[in-house]
Amino acid sequence: MRHARIHPRTLGYLGRALSLELSAVQQYMTQASLAEAWGLPEAAVRLREETVEEMQHAERIIQRMLVLGVAPNGSHLRPAGVARNLVDLLRQDAVLEAEIVALYREAVIFCRRIGDRENGDFFEALLNEESAHAREIEDWLASLGIRRYREPDERAYF
Ligand SMILES: [Fe+2]
Ligand SMILES: [Fe+2]
Repeated sequence: MRHARIHPRTLGYLGRALSLELSAVQQYMTQASLAEAWGLPEAAVRLREETVEEMQHAERIIQRMLVLGVAPNGSHLRPAGVARNLVDLLRQDAVLEAEIVALYREAVIFCRRIGDRENGDFFEALLNEESAHAREIEDWLASLGIRRYREPDERAYF
């Protein structure tokens, strides 16, 4: 069977990715509602768009798991990052996006190392999208006057 060759660690990455993507859905959905309640309709629209993007990422992971013959098993939905203003919401998003990027980077390296090209390509596509997404959040913060700095390991903190 095709899925018999899948390394258990690869399945572990998929499960963690699904948990993080669904956590991102909850976080952006919550933040869109907060932004609306604060009278920031443009931010609310943008955060709703982020919600949909993260939902599509979760869907792709679910589809990949089904192709591999495993039941989707995201199991650690974390509480949404909330705050009292938009800048602090976005800081929470930057932290979550950095975590997702780090996970996909690790998954790509692992799949390449064991010669699993198909899953490596899958994770790499998500890595590229989430890296771009992390930059968009940084740019949004920058547009609000928040400058970022980079740690030596190149992960962004604020
Ligand atoms: Fe995502
Ligand atoms: Fe994202």
